[in-house]
Formats: sequence, C-alpha cells, structure tokens
Amino acid sequence: MSYLEQLFSLHGRTALVTGARTGLGAAIAGALAGAGADLVLLGHGGDLSAVCQQVEAHGRRASVVEVELLEPDRVAGAAAAILAEHRIDILVNNAGTIRRAPAEGHALADWRAVFAVNVDSLFELTRALVPPMLHRRSGKIINIASILSCHGGTMVSGYTASKHAVLGLTRAWANEWAPHNVQVNAIAPGFFDTDNTAPLRADPRAYRQTLTRIPAGRWGDPPDLAGAAVFLAGPGSDYVSGHALAVDGGWLAF
Ligand SMILES: NC(=O)c1ccc[n+]([C@@H]2O[C@H](COP(=O)([O-])OP(=O)(O)OC[C@H]3O[C@@H](n4cnc5c(N)ncnc54)[C@H](OP(=O)(O)O)[C@@H]3O)[C@@H](O)[C@H]2O)c1
Repeated sequence: MSYLEQLFSLHGRTALVTGARTGLGAAIAGALAGAGADLVLLGHGGDLSAVCQQVEAHGRRASVVEVELLEPDRVAGAAAAILAEHRIDILVNNAGTIRRAPAEGHALADWRAVFAVNVDSLFELTRALVPPMLHRRSGKIINIASILSCHGGTMVSGYTASKHAVLGLTRAWANEWAPHNVQVNAIAPGFFDTDNTAPLRADPRAYRQTLTRIPAGRWGDPPDLAGAAVFLAGPGSDYVSGHALAVDGGWLAF
C-alpha cells in the first residue's frame, strides 16, 4: 500500500452510519465503503437495499439495523444489540430531522422531535458505542453538524439549537476521548441537495438568495462530502480532534 493509500485506507474497519438510507448518509456510506470499510447502515423502517448494493459494489459487507431515533430511551438497548454482532470502529452520527416554522410559532412537540433525533439519540448512541473504542484505544466519531452550528439561520430555531448542541458535544467528547486515541470531529455541511432542503429548493426566491450567498456558485451534491468523511474516518486524521470541517462551498468564510 502506498503512503497515500495508508493515510486514507479504511480496510479492516467497520463503520456505522446513521440516516444511511438517503442524502448525505447514503453518500458517506458509499465513500467509506470505497475506502475499504464494511458498513452497518442504520435506518428506521425504510428500504436501504440501494445503499447496501452501493456498499457491496465496492466488495464490502453491508448490514442493516433499524433503530427509531425519535425514541432516545431505547437507543442504548439497540446499541448493545449492535455491539453483540459488530465491532464498530467508526461512528458517523448523520441522521437528522428539521422543522421549519417562525420562531414564535415553533411548537414544543417539534422542538422535542428535533432534539430527540439530532441530539438525545446521538448522545445515547455515542455513549453506548464508545466504550469498546476507548478500551481498544482506537476509534473515530464523526458528527454531522451544520453551518447552522455556527450561525442562526431563520425559521429553524429548534434545528439551529440542536446543531449548536452537536458541535458542543463534538468538542466536549473530543477533549475527554483524545487521550484514549479516539478522535471526535464534525462535518458542517452547507446547502446540499437532499430531502432536508427540498422545501428551500422548491421556493425559487429562497433558492436564488441562497445560491447568491455561496462563493462556489452552486449547491453541494452529497458526494461532495466524501473526501471529508474518508479523511476524518481514516489514519490521516489521527491528530485531528474537536474540529468542525465546513464543506460548504465557502459559505462560512463569506
Ligand atoms: N442537506 C443539507 O443541506 C444539510 C446541511 C447541513 C446539515 N445537514 C445534516 O445532514 C444530515 C443528513 O441530512 P440529509 O441532508 O441527508 O437529509 P435527509 O435525506 O432527510 O437525511 C436524513 C436521514 O436521517 C434519517 N432519520 C430522520 N429521522 C430519523 C429517525 N427518527 N430515526 C432514524 N433515522 C432518522 C432519515 O431516514 P429516513 O429517510 O429513512 O426517514 C434520513 O436517512 C442531517 O443531520 C442534517 O441535519 C444537511
């Protein structure tokens, strides 16, 4: 294996990706498989066969587990069942949900749903999967944050608060687990063409306004996240800890 391959190789590793059925999660799963990882794909009832095929096309194993992340109290039990079957070397906390409403009309039920998936379940899943990594002194955790981890946005106050929490957890965990050679980092995507942003793209004025503000002059495609995910999952990032890597076409720098 060349030096370059060693830096980015995930051969012999198993990665668990949440929200793997669609969008960024499916792209990340494909990228990690392309770099040599076997995949545990976390969904919650939808059909993940297309993503399985994408992983298997790289000659890697794909297993599907179903965990409803709206129910954080059940996540630790589900994680224990996953650990009984798989050694998880890389955890990608990608699953997320969003509710759009004016701040003063943001329903508490929506706030709770957003926090259940984006924060509480991420917290529970990570706490349950990290002990074997700490024991082995080897592991990678990648949290999918957002550019809304860094500024406020509009009409998505619950989501923004949840993504600030994701970045806070990334830094807090990084501090505690770096001494055990477990690196915790975040990817902060900008505007990507996925289900999450479908309402924005359906609104021509909002779409144009967003596009004008992106220095790269285009929205992101899910495969644009591949390089960041492989880097943060592999040996090349072994001294990178608590970082949020913006993949946003330059949005945060603008
Ligand atoms: N697209 C963007 O511009 C953008 C920007 C910044 C950050 N992000 C973040 O990127 C991540 C992926 O989002 P995406 O853009 O790829 O949108 P997406 O296609 O809507 O993906 C969200 C994923 O999360 C899963 N999920 C949602 N609720 C769940 C639940 N209750 N239990 C288990 N899984 C659940 C979904 O599964 P099902 O589809 O099966 O329901 C789906 O696979 C999210 O954390 C999002 O906040 C996206």
